[in-house]
Amino acid sequence: MGSLAIRGLTARYGKTVALHGIDLELTDREFFVVLGPSGAGKTTTLKSVAGLVDGAAGEVRIAGRDMTGVEPYDRGVAMAFESYALYPQRTVEQNLASPLRSGRNGTWTPAQQAERIRQVTTTLGIDHLLGRYPRELSNGQRQRTALGRVLVRPAEVYLLDEPLSHLDAKLRAAMRAELKQLGDLSGTTTLYVTHDYQEALALGDRIGVLREGRLVQVGTPTQVWTEPVDTFVARTIGQPEMNLLDAVVDGGAARTPGGGVVLGVGPEVPAGDAVRLGIRPRDLEIVDRQAPDDRLVLRGRVVLAERLGRSVELSIDVAGVQVIAVTADHRTREGDSVTLVAEWANVHVFGAGEPAPRLGAACRPEPAQLAGGAR
Ligand SMILES: Nc1ncnc2c1ncn2[C@@H]1O[C@H](COP(=O)(O)OP(=O)(O)O)[C@@H](O)[C@H]1O
Ligand SMILES: [Mg+2]
Repeated sequence: MGSLAIRGLTARYGKTVALHGIDLELTDREFFVVLGPSGAGKTTTLKSVAGLVDGAAGEVRIAGRDMTGVEPYDRGVAMAFESYALYPQRTVEQNLASPLRSGRNGTWTPAQQAERIRQVTTTLGIDHLLGRYPRELSNGQRQRTALGRVLVRPAEVYLLDEPLSHLDAKLRAAMRAELKQLGDLSGTTTLYVTHDYQEALALGDRIGVLREGRLVQVGTPTQVWTEPVDTFVARTIGQPEMNLLDAVVDGGAARTPGGGVVLGVGPEVPAGDAVRLGIRPRDLEIVDRQAPDDRLVLRGRVVLAERLGRSVELSIDVAGVQVIAVTADHRTREGDSVTLVAEWANVHVFGAGEPAPRLGAACRPEPAQLAGGAR
């Protein structure tokens, strides 16, 4: 039995429906990340689990216990809010010690308190700030202290609401690694929400992608990256976003704007159907010579070349459609004509609609289709 199980969770604020029925079961000690844009319902999900949303309905079980009618402080959860609240007149150490002194979180001897605070503050990189007051801290240090106040408490489930959002990029990357270790150390199940796909990929044992109050895909980081269920998930995960090219299916093959031909998902996709081909910018490679037949080919002209340190982001006009490619090839200049290739397996085929469902991956076309193009 997982330590957190959610079934048919709905939440509304007056007429606004924020959650449309969330089903989710976390395994014991799992680090689960809910990923979604602003307004998707991430905070509402956490607050509903914590018992803080009046308009929430559905089943929440923590450590096997039904939470219906159970007060927030009795649920065995520790929640870190997006807006970090600290006692201004208390030092970092006193802020962290207060949850341990309240009696609600067990009885701690002063030595045990000190050890627990040391462990958490070392992980968060704030162990040298124990004597400081909140006003003497940077935003990032305040956010880590607020996170520390949550993590010192033993809980069945940690609920963390974008806890790294106020940190600069470098610190955020460092904290990602540290946080993961903390989860392992404390052995506590964690439900973590963020709008940052890199955080989700780095931290999550599994990821749930939330769109307008619905979980549209749940899977491992590898699954959501390699097999996004639709164009929404595909665009949410990855930066620059996945390119989407319109194509029309004919006899199991699809013609792209550049005249290249790919095999769709086979004869299941009816002729005449509009599909979209999704290719991640890093899955496109620039080749010098006529590309071999074993990959998808796109030809176009470089409109913009933006250097990003080791790699270059190219904006390429392929028959009037903008395609983004990220390569390590620094020789390419604006105005150059280029040939781009992608492995068939890295070409995602999506159907119609918004968001469009993923039908599968492309594969090598039949020789006849290659020769004549999709008729
Ligand atoms: N207190 C509230 N009153 C009314 N609507 C709210 C309230 N809190 C959130 N909402 C609405 O519920 C939806 C989900 O919000 P929220 O859970 O905060 O999203 P997220 O955390 O993913 O940005 C949004 O449409 C938001 O405007
Ligand atoms: Mg939020």
